Amino acid sequence: MPGSERSYGAYLEARERDGLRRGLTGIEARDARTIRIGGEAYVNFASNDYLALRFHPALINRAEAWSEEHGVGSGASRLVTGNLDLFAGIESKVAALKQKPAALIMASGFQANASVLQALFDRSVLGAEPLVFSDRLNHASIHFGCAASGAREIRYRHGDAAHLGVLLSQYQGDGRPRFILTESVFSMDGDVAPLAEIGRLAREQHAMLIVDDAHATGILGGGGRGLSGEADIVIGTFSKALGGFGAYIACSDTLREYLINRCTGLIYSTALPPPVLGAIDAALDLVRSLDAERAHVASLAERFRLGARALGYDTGASTTQIVPLIAGSNHAALSLGKRLGDAGFFATAIRPPTVPAGTARLRLAFTAAHTEVDIEGLLNALDDRALPRSATA
Ligand SMILES: Cc1ncc(COP(=O)(O)O)c(C=O)c1O
Repeated sequence: MPGSERSYGAYLEARERDGLRRGLTGIEARDARTIRIGGEAYVNFASNDYLALRFHPALINRAEAWSEEHGVGSGASRLVTGNLDLFAGIESKVAALKQKPAALIMASGFQANASVLQALFDRSVLGAEPLVFSDRLNHASIHFGCAASGAREIRYRHGDAAHLGVLLSQYQGDGRPRFILTESVFSMDGDVAPLAEIGRLAREQHAMLIVDDAHATGILGGGGRGLSGEADIVIGTFSKALGGFGAYIACSDTLREYLINRCTGLIYSTALPPPVLGAIDAALDLVRSLDAERAHVASLAERFRLGARALGYDTGASTTQIVPLIAGSNHAALSLGKRLGDAGFFATAIRPPTVPAGTARLRLAFTAAHTEVDIEGLLNALDDRALPRSATA
């Protein structure tokens, strides 16, 4: 056996010992509310399908229709022959939703952050090394994109515009190009960045503001527009509230053209296939009309947050459809997940490095498919004195 194989094995053993080993679980899903694992049914509180669009007939029908008409694959990258004329209509719908001059579709949110940031922070194009101010809890794909560009991230305290202001002022008079990077809704905390203050700082300091609107698009903001109004560049995904797959960048016309010429994730990857584009197109047609669904999800999440806090759980700074139950240790988060599982509810334990050490948690997400009865059942399952609490973890 090569020595490297032994090293990988040792890594896995150490992860196991520390309660950090990850594994893939086979899931059966036939609707947006429940899943089956090993024949057992669970109410699914771990899905990002916030509007329950995954099983919506409009999305399924257009995915089927476009696949029959245009085939199941796009056949090439967008710069070769994969740029089917379907893209233009979708990109103008995204630009309209995001109120930006232009939009560009890419394969996934991870790929977009990884390669768009790399392209934007290219010092040979900018003429100097950029100053990149980044919320320390930004998604792994954002940190990955920064690392790929070689730009050093100057990390500010999570959600702390005052700290960002201090860091920006430390570089006052420094002529290098400045960027600020933040998520709108943080994926593991469900809290919202202080975007109005960050936007003001960006304008004052002549910084370009890039907002990852993955967890707000479709589910928050007027008409499901998201929360990225202050941003110069919005990066987002169709894989969460919009129910399908794929990513977008909403930006200026110049930036769109620049990315077509410089963004490796777009240039060297096959274009999204027609059925996926069909689902995206139908979701974009529906999204503005889903106010009732958005209100339902917000009210379920609020009911849960109040109930969980009354039971002594730490829900952090969540104000959205994502509500963490912060358990502390990895084992406490895993055992809280198991206890909910025994009661028929599925939630994933999120552990470091996805979240900071000592803040392992269950990440619960509420969707339009959940009912008030589901929330009462979940709270009842948590109202068990034997369950681990943040105070005792
Ligand atoms: C904030 C954020 N950005 C990007 C992504 C990646 O998106 P995708 O799942 O489309 O790759 C995610 C989801 O995991 C996310 O939470």
